[in-house]
Amino acid sequence: MTMPHPDGVASPLDVVSHAADLPEPRRFPAIAPGFAYGGDYNPEQWPESVWAEDVELMRRAGVTTVTVGVFSWGLLETADGVFEWGWLDRVLDLLHENGIGVALATPTAAPPMWLLRAHPEIATVDERGVRTAPGGRLAWSPSSAVFRRYALRIVRAMAERYGSHPAVRLWHVSNEIGNENAQCFSDETTVAWRAWLADRHGDVDAVNAAWGTAFWGHRYGSIDEIDPPRFSRTAHNPGLRLDWARFTSDALLGHYLAERAVLREVTPHLPVTTNFMVMGDPGTDDYARWAREVDIVANDHYLRPEVEDRAGDLAFSADRVRGMGEGRPWLLMEHSTSAVNWQGVNLAKDPGQLARNSLAHIARGSQGALYFQWRQSSAGAEQYHSGMVPHAGADSRVFREVVEFGALLGRIAPAAATTVERARVAILFDDQAAWALRAGPGPTDRLRAFDLPQLLHRTLTARGIGVDVLPTSAPLDDRDLILVPTVPVVGEPVAAALAAAAERGAQVLVGFSTGVLDENGRVLTGGYPGRLRELLGVRSTEVRPLAPGESAATDAGWTASLWTEDLELRGAEALVRWSGGVLDGVPLLTRRPVGEGAALYLATRPDERGAADIIDRLVDAAALAPVAEIDPGLEATRRIGDAGSFLFVINHDTDAPRAVRAHGVDLVSGRSSAGSFEIPPGGVAVIQEAR
Ligand code: GAL
Repeated sequence: MTMPHPDGVASPLDVVSHAADLPEPRRFPAIAPGFAYGGDYNPEQWPESVWAEDVELMRRAGVTTVTVGVFSWGLLETADGVFEWGWLDRVLDLLHENGIGVALATPTAAPPMWLLRAHPEIATVDERGVRTAPGGRLAWSPSSAVFRRYALRIVRAMAERYGSHPAVRLWHVSNEIGNENAQCFSDETTVAWRAWLADRHGDVDAVNAAWGTAFWGHRYGSIDEIDPPRFSRTAHNPGLRLDWARFTSDALLGHYLAERAVLREVTPHLPVTTNFMVMGDPGTDDYARWAREVDIVANDHYLRPEVEDRAGDLAFSADRVRGMGEGRPWLLMEHSTSAVNWQGVNLAKDPGQLARNSLAHIARGSQGALYFQWRQSSAGAEQYHSGMVPHAGADSRVFREVVEFGALLGRIAPAAATTVERARVAILFDDQAAWALRAGPGPTDRLRAFDLPQLLHRTLTARGIGVDVLPTSAPLDDRDLILVPTVPVVGEPVAAALAAAAERGAQVLVGFSTGVLDENGRVLTGGYPGRLRELLGVRSTEVRPLAPGESAATDAGWTASLWTEDLELRGAEALVRWSGGVLDGVPLLTRRPVGEGAALYLATRPDERGAADIIDRLVDAAALAPVAEIDPGLEATRRIGDAGSFLFVINHDTDAPRAVRAHGVDLVSGRSSAGSFEIPPGGVAVIQEAR
């Protein structure tokens, strides 16, 4: 997979696409000569006199790659069918002359004002019937035929004009599809929704049966009676809501696929992607499904102030993005150099945090670090969002850190020819799991699909143990520890795969709320957790959520919150029981030996000590070793390949140095050691390990 570079350094990995439309995997040249570095570049916001300084500063910072064209439709097609390419021609030429590659965006994320005026029906309609007004972005409905026609016309025109421009390395379709246009309840969408239902279920009787529409007497007489879940004073049917979520993702994906078809036809030599939004609570798109349609998975990630462990949140997201691409390299398309502008309080990053955050994504498989955006805007809705070049200009802390990080990427370039070492641990988690959880009111509205997965993930990563976060449908063949914390729908094939994994020796931990629903969102009766009762050797007869702020004690010395269950043993042994209260003596952590392995059930949300206790037991049972011996406060991951083995280490402790045991040379500091490396407070290291 790697090719020798003229200077003896292995060159970065080519993009090897496994996209579903290709008859066989297709190889495209690497996006950049090392790790891609740069960001969204919006020269159209500035007079041309600024462009020369832009490229001069880009060269100073080691920028290799910029994303151009996002949101620029209104400046490229200034009136219906009137194209003005001049400025973009000049920008692409200038970038190419300066050795900077381009991820060229189709500009469809922001329809022009003239189009919204002429065809207001292309805009999304909300659940109360209000149509989105011009003035924002992503206002379009994926089910609008008129929008599709106009969008594909500009996409084709761009592909024909720039498909062979030497600066262009990658197509970036639209932008964050499903962000502001997450849902549309228009009449045109309703027609598409009904067609989707007929396709999935066959006929109305099947829909009635799947959703259990006898409840409240909601039986439909024909599929044409089924509306989207528009505003209602009560909860909609969970089966309907789950299908609506699936339909919405498919409708948005349909738009991406339509653009991709044009790009493939006109420019088959260029890879195509679109930027995902894998951060925090899953949104609209079923990214495990979408990942099969892009040539390289690309993601946008922003830190969220409400999250306590922001580095852990980032690591979970990056491991998830890698998992949905089956471990292949991916690309961090956007993150920020400092503050964003769309949160209540937009926290600036601390000195050194830019390097820690950007490197953390690369350590977990990104082939680069791109930011939103190159130059901080002076006008428009995002004028206070940070950029690589801040309002203050190049003489600023942020730009100095941008330049330093660019230099660091140059020093670690050999690692661009590697991928993240495959983990023996898998956490199953995907968007569909989150949708199932929120499709209907559950026992508590405080349960978040990603809460327990993230708790277990950070408990493992604190021990230096590598984790792959995989979609529920992923093969589990060679994993030794499989965690299924909160996946309400576990289909028969997944249940069988979990049982087979335990049989051959894996430790399988199932968390509460997993396996309780069928594919249509109906509760599997006979006791929780439905399809997994037998494998786990337990049966739960009642969920007893805890009140906000309440916690319950266990006989292992730690406490738990949020959720408890009245659990019976049916072949499993109890490892931990409740101590005191109504459930005194009732098991909450159980284990059933299965073949060479075991199946464990966790019926609550443990505190940090509880999570540590549970993970320690599992790490012992699965005989897992850390990627390296690390002091607390360090994050360590390994990338490997023909080019060698690279240990990425990040010190999240900004007050004290921390040590990692390793043998090799740190490409960041130039130091070598055969024993241990001290990572400065808040510092990073990339240790090329001695073979
Ligand atoms: C992303 C978007 C960018 C920019 C950025 C700000 O959601 O793709 O265009 O708005 O957020 O953080």
